[in-house]
Amino acid sequence: MTVAPHFQFKNDTLHAEETSLEQLAKDFGTPLYVYSRHALKDAWESYRVAAQGRDVLVCYGMKANSNLAILNEFAQHGTGFDIVSGGELARVIAAKGDPKKVVFSGVGKQTWEIEAALDAQIKCFNVESEGELLRIAEIAARKNTIAPISLRVNPDVDAHTHPYISTGLKDNKFGIAIEDAPRVYQLASTLASLKIVGVDCHIGSQITDISPYLDALDKLLDLIDGLAASNIHLSHLDIGGGLGIRYTDETPATPTMLLTEVFRALDARNLSHLQLVLEPGRSMVGNAGVLLTRVEYLKQSESKNFAVVDAAMNDLIRPTLYDAWHDVEHVSPSSNTQPRARYDIVGPICESGDWLARDRDLNLEPGDLLAIMSAGAYAFTMASQYNTRPRAAEVLVDGHSVHLVRPREKLESLFESERILP
Ligand code: LLP
Repeated sequence: MTVAPHFQFKNDTLHAEETSLEQLAKDFGTPLYVYSRHALKDAWESYRVAAQGRDVLVCYGMKANSNLAILNEFAQHGTGFDIVSGGELARVIAAKGDPKKVVFSGVGKQTWEIEAALDAQIKCFNVESEGELLRIAEIAARKNTIAPISLRVNPDVDAHTHPYISTGLKDNKFGIAIEDAPRVYQLASTLASLKIVGVDCHIGSQITDISPYLDALDKLLDLIDGLAASNIHLSHLDIGGGLGIRYTDETPATPTMLLTEVFRALDARNLSHLQLVLEPGRSMVGNAGVLLTRVEYLKQSESKNFAVVDAAMNDLIRPTLYDAWHDVEHVSPSSNTQPRARYDIVGPICESGDWLARDRDLNLEPGDLLAIMSAGAYAFTMASQYNTRPRAAEVLVDGHSVHLVRPREKLESLFESERILP
């Protein structure tokens, strides 16, 4: 069994659904991202079931994976989107997503991005500072329109996750301190070009336990009660994204576990009329993808065995950036009967930080195909062209059908827009 239900061994070869990964590597080359359509559907379904028929809007945190095919798949199920840039808004529109189901987060919204979001009539801006609030109000007034806003509050709770992906602590750059929120809502209520529609928080990512959510929720519900007392009424509550996935042996809370508790808290405070908005990213796509890579060379130093593969930190930066663990599966285990050896799986890039996995016991030969698991989220979207390496191709598998959803970048396209001085 692998960590991902739609990536399993059949006749000793790892498959994506009904399709052999060996065959995909032959047809499309490596490094190659492979996604499972049924895994996307299952992830979406787990949120649908968790909603228990109540008014819940899932705004997929599309920074996790923004390939148009994936956005379109979710859009067809009625998903909204959490965006953090004008570029992401353009992707939503290109993927036939509904801008009216878009929430716009991020601490640095620029004027053109605010204008584009107003033109597209998004659901709401998750406002992260007073300065941004005033800028949105000014732009909306100039355009003679009304901007729907929600404040992203920072509840100062510890999400118990990696410091780079923790966002709900006082020291993080995100959101408006919860103590300041009542004052900023009052200010917003005096600005005629704004319409207050909600409150929002997002406390971090790869959270496996629901208690930090419930701590944050408690503080948000106090805030909502306080606002109601001063006649500011909200129509939605956005609790952000952040639910974790299994990379190896984690047992993350499920959407149903989380929402059951959230509904209980809302009902206890007579706030069940509020629409609940969620912004899940990783849990929608993380285990719907793998990265295929081939072993180029095996190499030994005095103390280490290295398997040099054709994928690198430019394809998948999570290991080097967060010390993240991704399981590594041998797509078709070699027939040789040598004992396994302990390898670091490293890429060709000229950095010691260029590794994908460390200390893995494998029985490898040059030419072997490996699958780096749980590579559906924050993988391709964080890829770069460092060392002038074209970004990998992406395919989406649906049973026996295979769709190339992004061809491998062409080498020339990497520098075709650059100019030599006259
Ligand atoms: N909403 C907001 C405002 C966010 O900033 C994020 C992620 C999400 C939703 C989605 O969170 P998720 O459900 O995916 O945890 N690159 C890192 C993760 C960065 C998360 C950034 N914000 C990684 O590879 O672990």
